[in-house]
Amino acid sequence: MYDRKFDLEKKKIIKKNSSSKRFLKITKEFNVEASLNKYTYTFNWLGVPIIQYPQDIILMQEVINDVKPDLIIETGIARAGSLIFYSSILSLIHKKHKVIGVDIDIRKHARKVLKKHKFAKNIITFQGPSNDEKILNKIKKISKNYNKVLVCLDSDHTHDHVLKELENYSNFVSKNSYLVVFDTTQGTFKNSTINKISKIYKYKPWGKASNPLTAVYQFLKKNKNFKVNNNFFNKSLVSNCYSGFLKRIK
Ligand SMILES: C[S@@+](CC[C@H](N)C(=O)[O-])C[C@H]1O[C@@H](n2cnc3c(N)ncnc32)[C@H](O)[C@@H]1O
Repeated sequence: MYDRKFDLEKKKIIKKNSSSKRFLKITKEFNVEASLNKYTYTFNWLGVPIIQYPQDIILMQEVINDVKPDLIIETGIARAGSLIFYSSILSLIHKKHKVIGVDIDIRKHARKVLKKHKFAKNIITFQGPSNDEKILNKIKKISKNYNKVLVCLDSDHTHDHVLKELENYSNFVSKNSYLVVFDTTQGTFKNSTINKISKIYKYKPWGKASNPLTAVYQFLKKNKNFKVNNNFFNKSLVSNCYSGFLKRIK
């Protein structure tokens, strides 16, 4: 954006690295090892646990800066770090902005954050299953007051649940914005690794045939309004979002 020559150099680096067998092997091994060892559980954003790779946090910052949404909706709150992240970044971009979080169980630690944190005042939360019709209707009503909406899916990671979320939440995403699906990379691992991960994180039913990546592929077969942008994954390679950045193109 500020230097076309450097942007072109970056493109070349991304192309080279993302087609390098050695780079792909090392980063895949890292992604597997990280998933098997709860690597993402160890990071904070402004003092609050955020269950993401630092690399994905940087990628999300890039997506948010490109799109400049004034509303971000996320399913899966956990300890509220990702909501605080989105809220703090949006506060640097817009005066009027909102973050909506949905979780089946908003626990005591998350409630504390949402009550006390400096960047929590622009966050609205709903407790309940993310595909619940009443919750979806409330989000629909709120979203009408915003110009550009970005959605992140990071709740129950089984095929049926993510597919339903994709169908429901895709309706909120603005043109040229993104529907980001987390934990798709695990769908590229071999079956025995996926089975081990499903036991560690208690995802049921989860496996080669039921994970966020299978849901993305099925969703994209029918919905032609979205297209995968793998540029974000390709520049990082260490990421939980392989084929997880879906751009709304119409
Ligand atoms: C991976 S964590 C979310 C991590 C969070 N986005 C972050 O970056 O720190 C998944 C969350 O999804 C929630 N969850 C599981 N099933 C759900 C459902 N059916 N509807 C809504 N939330 C659900 C869990 O309670 C858990 O807090």
